[in-house]
Amino acid sequence: MKELLAKLTGAFGPAGREEWVRALLLEELKQMGSPDSIVDDLGNLVVSRGNPENKIILVAAHMDQVGFMVTFIEENGFLRVTPVGGIEAKSLPGMRLRFRDGITGVIGQEKIKEQKELDFSKLYVDIGAVSLKGAQQQIQVGDTAVFDAPLMMEGNRYIAGAMDDRAGCAVLLETLRRLPRDLPQSVCFVFTVQEEVGLRGAQAVSYRINPHFGLAVDVTRTGDTPEPQFKTPVSLGKGPAIKIRDSSVICHPRVTALMRQVAEDKNIPHQLEVLEQGGTDAGAIHLSRAGVPSGALSIPCRYIHTPGEMVDHNDLENSVSFLLALLQTKW
Ligand code: CO
Ligand code: ZN
Repeated sequence: MKELLAKLTGAFGPAGREEWVRALLLEELKQMGSPDSIVDDLGNLVVSRGNPENKIILVAAHMDQVGFMVTFIEENGFLRVTPVGGIEAKSLPGMRLRFRDGITGVIGQEKIKEQKELDFSKLYVDIGAVSLKGAQQQIQVGDTAVFDAPLMMEGNRYIAGAMDDRAGCAVLLETLRRLPRDLPQSVCFVFTVQEEVGLRGAQAVSYRINPHFGLAVDVTRTGDTPEPQFKTPVSLGKGPAIKIRDSSVICHPRVTALMRQVAEDKNIPHQLEVLEQGGTDAGAIHLSRAGVPSGALSIPCRYIHTPGEMVDHNDLENSVSFLLALLQTKW
């Protein structure tokens, strides 16, 4: 798991530029003997298993990560950027960014009177250029960057910038690797694009697949740190969470009941999640066509959308066990 996670979190993939993550996933699939896969016109990667005559479960994890896009280059070579996905300006000064071709930038901050004035218009990115022309030789308006935050392991915990949602991608891949041929229904594993900017890839791919059920595998916030901003009973290391609700979906009671039953029957540690802010691909899947009963398996993660996204090794292993058990149950 560590090796796979290191590769996946190290891949460059801000929303809209998922091609390198997808290439890595395709390479991993090839080593598994290339199960049936397609890439749709938006870039979603779909891997199918089982008899398509049966009911279909769409299982989604997103390939994209939050990042930054260059909006303007100043005369003196400093870059202005806008966030791609939900990133708060106040946590950014001093951080390192990485552009696709290896260029590193540091985020700087203009003088402000009060902390609350700090927004993206007061931030700039310094790539070491000394002029507009110099900067333009390396970077163009519209280029994107991500946090420079490769995988580290501390004790039982993994820390990396793109854990949201490469941890989910790793869980899907590992499940696919271990899933038996014979299944009570067919499964489409989908590695989606552009989740962080509004569940866009999931919306399009759900229409194509026309599933009977939807399940997103994504990270969720925890409440187990000193004075957490949001009260939630979800803790790191206590097992995957069964999502009941977030701001994009109220999970279908049939799906959440099935998930609770399977977790209990198989003795898989699990938690219940109600997330007050934030969404997942289940938000788009459940609204596709005439509606799709959907749920989500959430991987507890601290410091979401920062370079320090942290997950627990056992939670990942238990997420794989949980997903394997779910997909071998009749829905
Ligand atoms: Co996210
Ligand atoms: Zn996510």
